[in-house]
Amino acid sequence: MKRETPAKTPEQPLSPVFVSEMAEKLHQAYQELELKFDTLNQKLEETNRQLKHSLAEKEKLSSFFHNILESLTSGVLVVDLAGQITLFNKAAQEITGYQVREVLGKPYLEIIGKNIDKELTALQTLRTKIPHINEEKEVVNKNGTKVPLGFSTTPLLDSEGTLLGVVEVFFDLSKIKRLEDEISRVKTLAALGEMAATVAHEVRNPLGGITGFADLLNKEIAADDSRKRYVEKIIEGVENLNRIVKSLLNYTKMLKVVPQEVNLEKFLDEVVNFYEMDLQSQKKNIAILKEYANPELKAKIDPEHFRQVVLNLLQNATQSMSSGGKIRIVADYTKDNRLKPDKLLLKISDSGCGMSKEVLEKVFTPFFTTKEGGTGLGLATIKKIVEAHQGEIKVNSELGKGTEVIIGLPLL
Ligand SMILES: Nc1ncnc2c1ncn2[C@@H]1O[C@H](COP(=O)(O)OP(=O)(O)OP(=O)(O)O)[C@@H](O)[C@H]1O
Ligand SMILES: [Mg+2]
Repeated sequence: MKRETPAKTPEQPLSPVFVSEMAEKLHQAYQELELKFDTLNQKLEETNRQLKHSLAEKEKLSSFFHNILESLTSGVLVVDLAGQITLFNKAAQEITGYQVREVLGKPYLEIIGKNIDKELTALQTLRTKIPHINEEKEVVNKNGTKVPLGFSTTPLLDSEGTLLGVVEVFFDLSKIKRLEDEISRVKTLAALGEMAATVAHEVRNPLGGITGFADLLNKEIAADDSRKRYVEKIIEGVENLNRIVKSLLNYTKMLKVVPQEVNLEKFLDEVVNFYEMDLQSQKKNIAILKEYANPELKAKIDPEHFRQVVLNLLQNATQSMSSGGKIRIVADYTKDNRLKPDKLLLKISDSGCGMSKEVLEKVFTPFFTTKEGGTGLGLATIKKIVEAHQGEIKVNSELGKGTEVIIGLPLL
């Protein structure tokens, strides 16, 4: 049987109407697509804009919180669940001496928890979820100095109440502690002063009697009598006691200064000349150098009390130079960093034995003395007089090199 091959359909030419319809439809579809693309593009741009805006807002908020944290005078730190520090603000750096890059990611115990009671740490709050509120502890800063801190710790929770870590807020109590110590020192001194004044007053009368009788005895005993030596010792001892009682009463009594305008050069010259005569009679090999910036330097001081200040300082300087040396007296308007600016400066320095740090810390403490027969009231009285003139006094000293006493007085 003959198989029929399928008849080939001749390719029909597309009718121009069909082609034009198709083109029209394609064009429409293209336009619709273009429209959709535009709309989508607009939406995308809008979302982008909103995203950028909310990002900027978030950045603004985050920098706002960052600024608040950095502006706080209290130290703020955060530890995570592993007990590592994740936040350490500027005040925390200033109080502890550690830079933020040194502490981030470091264990809390290594930074602020060294050598302290573990109960008083943020880690304790991390374990127990119990906050510490307004408590005190002492931490060791980066330099190894102990710093008293007031602190509080709080568990850091997210909105679902899940524990994320602990926040600790702390502040330096050094200044407050120093003031508390000063108040208690002043209170002790006031009580001591009151008691000393009463005792000194009571001691004065019998001392007067002893002096009188010892003088009588001295007159009655012949010059070649060997017992005369004992009487002289009694008189010497009583004189010494009288001196101590006098300076004690002087120190404890209310100080009334009557400042008046004086020419500083004239005033200092007078005191120094008087003292130099005393030095000559004692045959001390001491030179006093005077450096006054200006012959017209004026000061408002009580001359009687200030005479005592200068004489006491010259005496201390002399006593520090057993084999002689130099005393320098400088008077100037110079500004000194350690004193508030614009003061009249009076410096008395010596090339004597100087003081150790321990002695230097106590020089203004009443009754502190390293001298046999010293009252330890010299510098305490000087400080009282200087402060009654609204002045300040500082002492610098180096063992084996010498001492410098700087007095700053308000300008006229
Ligand atoms: N220029 C100085 N050089 C070295 N040490 C000094 C100097 N001035 C004071 N000191 C030390 O300070 C201490 C206290 O001095 P302060 O003048 O108050 O009492 P004092 O000199 O011991 O006794 P007083 O003044 O009654 O003679 C002295 O004992 C001494 O150790
Ligand atoms: Mg003295």
